[in-house]
Amino acid sequence: MTELLTPRLLLRPFHPDDFEAHARICGDAEVMKYIRAGALSREDSWWQLARYLGHWQLRGYGCWAVVERSSSALIGHLGFFHAEGGHGLEFGWALAREAWGRGYALEGTLAAKEHGFSVLGFTKLLCLIRPENERSLRLAERLGAEAAGETIDEKGERLLVRSLRPIPGS
Ligand SMILES: CC(C)(COP(=O)(O)OP(=O)(O)OC[C@H]1O[C@@H](n2cnc3c(N)ncnc32)[C@H](O)[C@@H]1OP(=O)(O)O)[C@@H](O)C(=O)NCCC(=O)NCCS
Repeated sequence: MTELLTPRLLLRPFHPDDFEAHARICGDAEVMKYIRAGALSREDSWWQLARYLGHWQLRGYGCWAVVERSSSALIGHLGFFHAEGGHGLEFGWALAREAWGRGYALEGTLAAKEHGFSVLGFTKLLCLIRPENERSLRLAERLGAEAAGETIDEKGERLLVRSLRPIPGS
């Protein structure tokens, strides 16, 4: 499983020791407000970790743990998801609230995007974002994503589709 290093972050696979920090992030209703599942219980957070690791096994890529290098703290997760029956190859992210507003999400997702296009050979990444999720829409825009219609999730909630290409407009 690949690790990526940026000036301030380490993106690495999850370890069992990450569980408490991960459960705290996933249990925060503010962080999970626009994520389909909503705030997760400790049990569901554990199963989510298992799913993330299983995705790497099945696809050869997946979701990284985001670690702040200066503190070694786990501050979130981001990466690629391609589930059978889903919308295609998706790019997702979530950071602990105290890590917002510092450019960490942009720094980590730029490194992941570059890896996805130039190393993994992806030709398109989709971001599915609730219209009210302004921070995520801003992040997608900063990444160079373009509007690509909309869809609905399993609960019937509207999702704006943003598409990322190796060369914008290609
Ligand atoms: C979406 C999310 C990851 C965005 O986090 P973020 O911190 O706003 O995103 P960025 O890394 O792009 O940071 C941008 C902000 O950092 C500021 N910033 C500070 N230092 C910076 C630096 N060195 N470089 C860049 N930006 C910096 C920017 O000015 C900007 O501030 P603003 O929010 O006032 O405009 C975060 O809000 C989150 O985890 N949300 C909950 C989970 C979620 O909804 N996931 C998506 C489901 S589709």
